[in-house]
Amino acid sequence: MALKIAVLKETAENEKRVSATPETVKKYIAKGFKISMVAGAGVNASYPDADYKNAGAEIVDSADQATADADIILCVQPPSHALKTKPDALLIGLLSPYNSKDRLTAYAAQGLTTLSMELVPRITRAQAMDVLSSQSNLAGYRAVLEAAAEFPRAFPMMMTAAGTIPPARVFVMGAGVAGLQAIATAKRLGAIVSATDVRAASKEQVQSLGASFVMVESDEIKQAETAGGYAKEMSDDFKQKQAKLVAETLVKQDIVITTALIPGRPAPVLVTEEMVKSMKPGSVIVDLAAPQGGNCTLTKVGETVEVNGVKILGFANISSRIATDSSALYARNLMNLLAVAVDKDGNLALNMDDDIMKGTILTKSGQIIHPNFQ
Ligand code: NAI
Repeated sequence: MALKIAVLKETAENEKRVSATPETVKKYIAKGFKISMVAGAGVNASYPDADYKNAGAEIVDSADQATADADIILCVQPPSHALKTKPDALLIGLLSPYNSKDRLTAYAAQGLTTLSMELVPRITRAQAMDVLSSQSNLAGYRAVLEAAAEFPRAFPMMMTAAGTIPPARVFVMGAGVAGLQAIATAKRLGAIVSATDVRAASKEQVQSLGASFVMVESDEIKQAETAGGYAKEMSDDFKQKQAKLVAETLVKQDIVITTALIPGRPAPVLVTEEMVKSMKPGSVIVDLAAPQGGNCTLTKVGETVEVNGVKILGFANISSRIATDSSALYARNLMNLLAVAVDKDGNLALNMDDDIMKGTILTKSGQIIHPNFQ
């Protein structure tokens, strides 16, 4: 029998994304899946029900109607209430496992098998499933546009009959996936761009985009990267040197995009109140780390804070502000993960020896099985 996939309508505040698009629905149907979608699931991401219907989906009125006999349930954020499901249904989404042990316990109690997209391991084979990369990339792009919209000046140098407008100076803190895209976007808009990171490997990537690299000279940066390519927490001595360098650099900037994260820890503090107060009025800081505590001490999640004429934007969910494309990439990430979870006969077959499954699975057969959450 064909496996049935239910696609939920997101209920979280500020969440416009959707976990399947007409494109992925068409591909699922071609592979022999049945799809049941909650009416209006894609409407906030500009995917109307009619397009899903044309792609072969059934449209239903409520989440329970979609999920009651579904084998697989797709979502972006965790569903807000317990769904009516088959006991062994597979739920896949950005399930925020670090934020709620109770929810994981409830999934296990319901018998759900759950896969959490933010845990997809960063190995070459899993790149097409890497939600953190796909969403961060768009977030980095969008952050620069949000800054440009708030900035009371132009980005490029303009030579006009009425005089010359100088180019904006953009400083990107954290040159990972989001930061590199922010650099590329700011360069395209004509700004003078510089960036910093604690991982020595990022220097070449920053420079290859035409930006200059600002970094603390220290032997510590040689060990700043984990085997997985992530940053480590730095020593107090390094943090002091970095704060001095950042303070000197920030005074000269118009736009600051902060993206620095350390997996499983609060975001590192890089921009203090004193530093913000040293910046020119009209400057804009976009703190992409806001949901993880922020890289700036003045950031408030979901708000714009203004101090001495400097605006600090702390979006709660910036990917949702570019929902059509972020959904398109997210939906493909999910489809690529599902391809690993279903065998060639179209049956669910989670191979627990596979690194991708081992890394992402939270609950199965009534138990929380991921070692990080037991
Ligand atoms: P992330 O979102 O965890 O962190 C963002 C950036 O902040 C990182 O570049 C990190 O080094 C930097 N950072 C952390 N603490 C800092 C501090 N105190 N000061 C300045 N910068 C700080 O990382 P992201 O962007 O998700 O990925 C980081 C790296 O992982 C990539 O550049 C890449 O090398 C690797 N990667 C590998 C993938 C794969 O193999 N499939 C996929 C994506 C990324």
